[in-house]
Amino acid sequence: MANTPDSNSMWGGRFGGGPAAIMQEINASIPVDKRLWEEDIAASRAHAAMLGAAGIIGADDAVQIDRGLAQIAEEFAATGVPVDLALEDIHMTVESRLKELVGEAAGRLHTARSRNDQVATDFRLWTRTACERIDTGLAAMQAALLARAEDHAGSIMPGFTHLQVAQPVTLGHHLLAYVEMFGRDRGRFADARRRLNESPLGAAALAGTGFPIDRDATAAALGFDRPMANSIDAVSDRDFALEFCASASIAAIHLSRLAEEIVIWASQPFGFISLPDAWSTGSSIMPQKRNPDAAELVRGRAGLLLGAFQRLAVIVKGLPLTYSKDLQDDKETVFGAFDALALSLAAMTGMVETLTFRTDRMRALAASGYSTATDLADWLVRENGLPFREAHHVVGACVKRAEELGVELSALPAADAAAIHPAVTSDVLAALTVEASVASRTSYGGTAPERVRQAIAAARAALEGSNGWR
Ligand code: ARG
Repeated sequence: MANTPDSNSMWGGRFGGGPAAIMQEINASIPVDKRLWEEDIAASRAHAAMLGAAGIIGADDAVQIDRGLAQIAEEFAATGVPVDLALEDIHMTVESRLKELVGEAAGRLHTARSRNDQVATDFRLWTRTACERIDTGLAAMQAALLARAEDHAGSIMPGFTHLQVAQPVTLGHHLLAYVEMFGRDRGRFADARRRLNESPLGAAALAGTGFPIDRDATAAALGFDRPMANSIDAVSDRDFALEFCASASIAAIHLSRLAEEIVIWASQPFGFISLPDAWSTGSSIMPQKRNPDAAELVRGRAGLLLGAFQRLAVIVKGLPLTYSKDLQDDKETVFGAFDALALSLAAMTGMVETLTFRTDRMRALAASGYSTATDLADWLVRENGLPFREAHHVVGACVKRAEELGVELSALPAADAAAIHPAVTSDVLAALTVEASVASRTSYGGTAPERVRQAIAAARAALEGSNGWR
């Protein structure tokens, strides 16, 4: 344990790693919240300008403070935020540098303000930007999926339920499923952003202030829609951060499912895709291996994201109003969730853009597992007026017989078929192609290539529209 700058020089020799140093270590948040420096400086500049305009501090002081803060922003941008545990957090780090730069005027900045409303303001500003960045990442992911879907609107693959071949579908349709999921994720982040966009600044410690502050002015200066209505709520709650983590968790679940499919599809028994060198890793013992590590890591990292929501929920759930220091750990939690999600999104987008679909292999397997059996049942219903349950039974018997003979449904001998039901002729069986199957599924939202092309056009319009997703 390193000695601290303010270890007592009179008796500190004996206590070099003593309680004060540990206290400082557990108490200081600057190693984490230095990431809020831009937001902190922006909020302080808005606050100082308001204090000056309202005559709460002198105009000269306001100008000096603003110049000093602008200079600090330049310094931090150029050389980073200095980390001194003795200054605890980003708020005191900025203020102490301000004092060095402008002297006494710096001491007036904290008028009518507390670190409690300050940190809540900074963190809302940061989370607002985080929502916007994740939205950009999700839109890029959608664009990558859509581009691949456009190439494969008519490519046929097996569709699965229970990971058993179920019915043929088109690859474009399968990819568009993820476009929809990521679209809803964007909606969740947009909702979270809209709800969080109120300013806590001016709530002060918890009760508001007796100074004639203008909360509307600071809210507007920082791009908030309005000041938060209740000072106690403003410094207490972190539901906006929970919403971010919840939205991030759901997006991570979607990414994890896509990652899982990439892992399965890249395996030799499937062989549906191959990943380029740039997105594969080798094995240190097996020279032939190409492993989909990035997809596996995205799948695993969903654990971090789900854990972030859990961690923050546990931090907040037992706290009496208003601020308690437990809340300091909110930032590490949300920063970690943001970083993990942003990286996962970028990695999955890269994989989707560059992987190769082995459509011949997909097409070949699409017909396996009697995947067109439902089409035969539907045909018997449509053309022979059989009730669906009876048709289901007839086709079940056909599949059973084909299985016994080890042939596809289309190769079931005419005599065997006729013995099960006279309507099942060899002409009908021969027409049971995977192409006919997907082409027939023209219901809205269905897998027919013509429907998929319409869905792609609609998704393109939504993606390129100016209103976020839908
Ligand atoms: N570093 C603190 C945090 O992140 C700032 C607020 C401190 N407020 C206080 N009353 N000690 O939560």
